[in-house]
Amino acid sequence: MKRLPSAVLLLSLACVGGAGAEQKYDLAKVVAECAACHGPEGIGNDVEIPNLAGQHDQYLYTQLQHFKSGRRPHKEMAFESRHLTDDEMRDLARYYSQLPAR
Ligand code: HEC
Repeated sequence: MKRLPSAVLLLSLACVGGAGAEQKYDLAKVVAECAACHGPEGIGNDVEIPNLAGQHDQYLYTQLQHFKSGRRPHKEMAFESRHLTDDEMRDLARYYSQLPAR
């Protein structure tokens, strides 16, 4: 087996470290993904898709946690939440809770 040069190893460790607490991400980009189903305004595109606009942020956050952990089983939402970080879930929950309900 070929040994990895230690420079490569160090570099990959540095990358892991770099993805730390103050990692910046684009909330608008994440929201655009959600909008495919939940609409740009947090109003579901279909009768089977819940409105998120104006919902309590704590509730939305908890649901995202549960979709990711599998405690609330749902194929699409398990897929959508799999890569969300805790910060993103909080920001998404706050974002949708502040949109006007319909
Ligand atoms: C492929 C369509 C689709 C996409 C994309 C999608 N969702 Fe959903 N979402 C659904 C459906 C369908 C439900 C209803 C789940 C159920 O029946 O349990 C749901 C439920 C939810 C709920 C629970 C609402 C409630 O009233 O309990 C939240 C919160 C949520 N989605 C957030 C998001 C966020 C945030 C994103 C983007 C990261 C997203 N969704 C992307 C289809 C989608």
